[in-house]
Order: sequence, then structure tokens, then C-alpha cells
Amino acid sequence: MNLMKRLGYWMKVSSAILGLIVTALLWMTDIVPSQPAKRAGKEECRDCHRRIWDETKKGSHGGLDCSSCHPNAMNHQDADDPLEVAAGVDYSAEACGSCHRFQYETYMKDEPGKAGLYGGTPEDPAKAPKLAEFPLYHKIVAGHGFTKDYNEERAHRYILQDHIETKRPKFPACLNCKATPIALHWGKTWNGVAISNDTKWEDIVKLIPKELHPYGVSCIHCHDPHNAELRIINRGLMEAIKERGVNPYWPERNAKSFQAADKQQKEMLLCGQCHVEYVCGMGADKKIRFVYSWRKARDLQAFYQERYGNQQDWVHSLIGETLVKSQHPELELFWESKYERAGASCVTCHMPKVEVKGRLLTSHWLTSPLKYLDKEMKKEPLGAYPCGQCHNVPPAVLKAQVLRLQQHIDAVQKRVQKALSDAIDALEAAKKAREAGKKVDSDLLQKAIDLYREAHLRWENLVVSENSMGFHNPEEVMMELAESLDNARQVEALARKAIGGP
Ligand code: HEC
Ligand code: HEC
Ligand code: HEC
Ligand code: HEC
Ligand code: HEC
Ligand code: HEC
Ligand code: HEC
Repeated sequence: MNLMKRLGYWMKVSSAILGLIVTALLWMTDIVPSQPAKRAGKEECRDCHRRIWDETKKGSHGGLDCSSCHPNAMNHQDADDPLEVAAGVDYSAEACGSCHRFQYETYMKDEPGKAGLYGGTPEDPAKAPKLAEFPLYHKIVAGHGFTKDYNEERAHRYILQDHIETKRPKFPACLNCKATPIALHWGKTWNGVAISNDTKWEDIVKLIPKELHPYGVSCIHCHDPHNAELRIINRGLMEAIKERGVNPYWPERNAKSFQAADKQQKEMLLCGQCHVEYVCGMGADKKIRFVYSWRKARDLQAFYQERYGNQQDWVHSLIGETLVKSQHPELELFWESKYERAGASCVTCHMPKVEVKGRLLTSHWLTSPLKYLDKEMKKEPLGAYPCGQCHNVPPAVLKAQVLRLQQHIDAVQKRVQKALSDAIDALEAAKKAREAGKKVDSDLLQKAIDLYREAHLRWENLVVSENSMGFHNPEEVMMELAESLDNARQVEALARKAIGGP
């Protein structure tokens, strides 16, 4: 045998051995390799895609062929003009699920019902209106789209379906949190269509590949497919970070970019792509925006006043004033909480590690942590007690404490709700008096309106739009509800006084 032949022989033998080792490793790690793609020859992707190649080879996906995720890649490579023969890009969760079965199956999990007293996953959202907990809501947000349709939210796999089905007005920017390929291409042209608020919602939805329709948001919203590291893709969030850092309320941890952030902050930012307050629709001034305010409730009103003259949301139809309508600010409420300062991230409680065939893997079932506690107590699969890292009481005791705490918050928020409703009556009466030509002290009335804005914002943001009934930061919620209650009662008195009342 000459040298070349020998070398060739040993390369074949060693690659066969390597193949066996890789197969054994994959078996041990519960990874199921997909069918190896048919390869016409050696991949030469690096010649033209150097950055992606080098990044991929450095990470945990370094051992994968590019063509295992990119259909038609070999034909693309071997074509006279690679631009003429496109390589496929697969945005679906199934593309990852073929090898990462446990993460895929838990991500798609949907188990209807509540574990505690609030939240949970309704079987039929139409039968779980938010009005159950907030009976005066329609009056407090009168004239807003949320009065048309506002139900308890369902599991992650319904993200796109529930958005498509809602009767509320829809805007392209909303799709950043509902469909991964749209978030990836936001601000660019994709398949000949400009992905921005200037295009019609209907025309953008059409572009979402069919296989993503059942769930919308896939693995690559949080994972870079090439280097397999955590990432964010939401441009609204990236802009906010550029302006104020990753956590403007914790100076020591306020890194300037996702890449520079520590693990805890990174994990919070993954969820912060969507579980934050933002403006993604049409304002009272008919302008369409896509902005992350990236501020705690107490700083929101001043920010919106300064930046948009309060025009970013809607005009309350009973009192005729612009107010803030918040979206789910889980992250902002969590900032400064005792859990955050003790080192927990959203992932700690909502994505616990569970044992699968002797290995600790991350559960991707994004649900109430109480559901994990219940399963732990019943010794069912997917049971976990992530709280045990910091608490040494049994799960049943801690769960009871969560419910007690939430009931206290609920009792207080119901009083605030009543006070807001009374304040609206007083403001409406003052405005009617002015219309009827009666003498009204406009300084007093303006003072009442300004106070009302702050009172409304705190309740609506911290207990209605936020989904944990105060759990994520009970001290902050209690204090701000007290402020809100006090403000609302002052509004009532001021508005009465403005029309000459006692
Ligand atoms: C001879 C150069 C060349 C080689 C070799 C090559 N590509 Fe490409 N590839 C291109 C060009 C040019 C484009 C289009 C411009 C762009 O998107 O960067 C492209 C685009 C792509 C895209 C994007 C498709 C889209 O819809 O956005 C993927 C994915 C891709 N290539 C994968 C591969 C893979 C995998 C290999 C190796 C099996 C490979 N390419 C080999 C030149 C090449
Ligand atoms: C685990 C699956 C997976 C593997 C392995 C993989 N890709 Fe990709 N690739 C994707 C996905 C998904 C996208 C869509 C863009 C994104 O998510 O960033 C993509 C996008 C691309 C693009 C389009 C450029 C862009 O950023 O949009 C190119 C080019 C590309 N990949 C080349 C490669 C090459 C070369 C390799 C091998 C070194 C490779 N890919 C390996 C999943 C993969
Ligand atoms: C062909 C099989 C295959 C496919 C398809 C695949 N992976 Fe992987 N993945 C692997 C292997 C092998 C490893 C390394 C072994 C390990 O870390 O357990 C890995 C590791 C990972 C890791 C762990 C990174 C770390 O260092 O802890 C993540 C996250 C990951 N993959 C995400 C994805 C995502 C997202 C997709 C889809 C875009 C995907 N994978 C598609 C085989 C695959
Ligand atoms: C909302 C963000 C998010 C989404 C979406 C997501 N993951 Fe993860 N994933 C995480 C986090 C956080 C971890 C834990 C990382 C760590 O501990 O360093 C993780 C870990 C992993 C790991 C490493 C092994 C493990 O279990 O710890 C794999 C593999 C993985 N995910 C695959 C997937 C797949 C497949 C999908 C889609 C079906 C997916 N992920 C969707 C956030 C996400
Ligand atoms: C791409 C946007 C997006 C990301 C990223 C995201 N979520 Fe969600 N999440 C949503 C939406 C939208 C819903 C409501 C789904 C519905 O009603 O169809 C939701 C619902 C939930 C629910 C309630 C589920 C139920 O069954 O009622 C929990 C809990 C949750 N998310 C936690 C998290 C955590 C923790 C993270 C980060 C690890 C995260 N989410 C990342 C958009 C997102
Ligand atoms: C210390 C544990 C813990 C941490 C950390 C945590 N949560 Fe929660 N979360 C809870 C508990 C407990 C509830 C209330 C569940 C219930 O009432 O069933 C909850 C409720 C929720 C809900 C509503 C669930 C439903 O069933 O409707 C969402 C959404 C959510 N959290 C998202 C987040 C996000 C995003 C973060 C990070 C910014 C986060 N959580 C951090 C424990 C935690
Ligand atoms: C990273 C540490 C950490 C984790 C993880 C954690 N907690 Fe806590 N928790 C704290 C700290 C710190 C306090 C406040 C001091 C104390 O009471 O020990 C607290 C207090 C509480 C309280 C009393 C709250 C009050 O305001 O009355 C409850 C209830 C609670 N935690 C429930 C949970 C639940 C449920 C989980 C898991 C889903 C959990 N915790 C996970 C650190 C943690």
C-alpha cells in the first residue's frame, strides 16, 4: 500500500469509529439524530459563508452538517450560480425537535386548568374572561380595543392562533412576539415584502410558513441555531437595551448588550422579548409605533408624556382623556424584587431542571410554577421544586403561602378598582357640568386628571396586565396600590370641588 492509500484507509476506519462514538454519545444524551441528509460530496460552505461556518464549528453544533438543517444545500453549493439554486431555511420547532425531543415535547405541552387561584390555561378562552377578576374593567378602559375581547391567556403553543383569532385590532409589530420569522426579518425585506408597520398585517401573516401556524414562536427565538448559544432577536428590545442597558434598575448589572450581560440577566431578557410593556399599535394620534418603554410603572407616565405627549395609547371614552394601556409587564415588575436580588431569573421558576434518563434537562413547558409543584407533590413526571434552592419548607406550605399572598393583593386591588370607578364618575360629572356651561375650576380639574392618570396606570399595569397577581414583587404592588387608592379618592374629591361641591 502506498502512503496515500494507507492514509485513506486509516481515515475511513477512524471515521467509522468516530461515527460509532458519536452515535453512542447521542444515545447516552437522549439526542435522536435525524436522518443524515444525502450528501453528494464534501460541504464547502465555508468558502462563501465563513462567519457562520466558523461560529458553528466552535459551538455545540460543531459536529453537525450544515445540510442537516438546510435542505437542498448541496445543490445550492454545487450550482453554477448559488443565487439561482437557493438553500432552504427551516424556521420550525420540528427542525430542532427531531434531535432535541424532550425540549420540543415540553415546549408544545398544554395542560388546561389552574394550579392556584388565578391565571392558568383556560380550555376555552372565551369562557375565561378577565372580567371575572376585574368586573369594572370595561368602564375603566372604556373605548379601548380590550373591551372587545380580553380573556385569560393560554399556553405558548397558542401564541399565533390566539393572536389571529382575537377581535382586537392587529398591527404588524405585534407579530414580533407571535411569529419567529417575522421577528427575524423585522425592518428588512423578506420574500419581496417589507416587514414593517408600513405593510398591512394581512400581507405579512401570509408569509409565515404553514408549518409554523400551529404555534408561531419557535426555538430560534431564544437559541442561535449556529453556535447554539442563547440569543434575543426582538428589535424593539434591542433598541431599548441600546438606549438604557439590559437592566436600568440595577446599575451593577446594567450591561450594554445582551452578549455582555450575565447569565441571570440573559435569562430574563429571553422572556423580556415579549413579557414587557410596549406600544405596538396605533395611538390616539393615529400614529403606529413599536416601542419598548423599558421602565417600571412608577416612571412610565412621565416618559410617555415627555416622548409622545401621552398620545401613544387611547382616549378614554367616558372622561375624554388619553390614558396609558399597558401590556404584560412581567419583567419590569420583577426588576428590584426580592427574587431578582436573590439571583433568580424567570427561567429559575418557570423552566426548572428535571431529570430525564439520569440527565438534568431544562423543561420548556412555560407555565405556572405551581403546576410543577403539584406534579412534584404527586410524584408525577415533570414534577419539580425549583423554590427549594432558597426555601426549606415543603412545597405544600410554600404553595399555600403564594395563594394567601395573592388573595391579599386581590382584596386590595378590588378596592382600588372601585375607587377608580368612583373617580371616573366624578370626572365625568365635572366634564358634563363644564359642557353645560356651569362654572368649573379648571386648575382643580386638571390636577384631578393628572392624578387620575397615575392612579389608573398603577392598577391597570401592575395587577391587570401583569399576570402573577402580585407574586413577582408583592412589596412593590402593595405600595403602588396604596398610592393608587389614595390618588383615586383624591381625584373624586378634587373633581367635586372643581364644580363647587364640598
Ligand atoms: C459559491 C459560494 C457558495 C457556497 C459554496 C455556498 N453558498 Fe450558500 N449562499 C451563497 C450566496 C451568494 C447566497 C445568497 C446571499 C446570501 O444570502 O448571503 C447564499 C445563501 C445561502 C443561504 C440563505 C438562504 C436564504 O433563504 O436566506 C443559506 C441557508 C445557505 N446559503 C447555505 C449554504 C450551505 C449550507 C452551504 C454548504 C452546503 C452553502 N450555502 C454553500 C453562496 C454560497
Ligand atoms: C441546527 C440547525 C442549523 C445548522 C446546523 C446550520 N444552520 Fe444555518 N440557519 C439555520 C436557521 C434556523 C437559520 C435562520 C436564521 C436564524 O435563525 O438566525 C439559518 C440561517 C442561515 C443562513 C442565512 C443567513 C442568515 O443569517 O439569515 C446561512 C447563510 C446559513 N444558515 C448557513 C449555514 C452554514 C454554512 C452552516 C454550517 C456551518 C449552517 N448554516 C448550519 C439553522 C441551521
Ligand atoms: C441533527 C441533530 C440536531 C439538530 C437538528 C439540532 N441539534 Fe442542537 N444539538 C445537537 C447535538 C449533538 C448537541 C451537542 C450535545 C449536547 O449538548 O447535548 C446539541 C446541542 C444543543 C444545545 C446545547 C448547547 C449547550 O452548549 O448547552 C442547544 C441549546 C441546541 N442544541 C439547540 C438546538 C436548536 C435551537 C436547534 C434547531 C434550530 C437544534 N439544536 C437542532 C444536535 C442537534
Ligand atoms: C423562551 C426561550 C426559549 C425557547 C423558545 C426555547 N428554549 Fe431551549 N432553553 C432555554 C433556556 C433558558 C435554556 C437553559 C439554558 C441554560 O441552562 O444555560 C434552554 C436549554 C435548551 C437546551 C440545552 C439542554 C437543556 O435541556 O438544558 C436545548 C437542547 C434546548 N434548549 C432546545 C430547545 C428547543 C428544541 C426548543 C424549541 C422546541 C427550545 N429550546 C426553545 C430557552 C428557550
Ligand atoms: C416571543 C414572545 C414570547 C417569549 C419570548 C416568551 N413568551 Fe411567554 N407568552 C407569550 C404570549 C404571547 C403568551 C400568551 C399566549 C396565548 O394566550 O396564546 C405567553 C404566555 C406565557 C405564560 C402563561 C401560560 C399559560 O399557560 O397561561 C407563561 C407562564 C409564560 N408565557 C412564561 C414565559 C417565560 C418564563 C419566558 C422566558 C423563558 C417566556 N414566557 C418567553 C409570549 C412570549
Ligand atoms: C420566584 C419564582 C418566580 C420567578 C423568578 C418568576 N416567576 Fe412568574 N410566576 C411565579 C408564580 C408563583 C406565579 C403565579 C402562578 C399562579 O398563580 O398559578 C407566576 C406567574 C407568572 C405568569 C402568569 C402565569 C399564568 O398562569 O397565567 C407569567 C406570564 C409569568 N409568571 C412570567 C414570568 C416572567 C416573564 C418572569 C421573569 C421576568 C417570571 N415570571 C419570574 C413565579 C415566578
Ligand atoms: C433565588 C432564591 C429564591 C427562589 C428560587 C424562590 N424564592 Fe421565594 N423568597 C426568596 C426570598 C429572598 C424571600 C424573602 C425572604 C424570605 O421570606 O425568606 C422569599 C419569599 C417568598 C414568599 C413569601 C412572600 C411574601 O411576600 O410574603 C413566598 C410565598 C415565596 N417566596 C414563594 C416562592 C415560590 C413558590 C418559589 C418557587 C416557584 C420561590 N419562592 C422561589 C427567594 C427565593
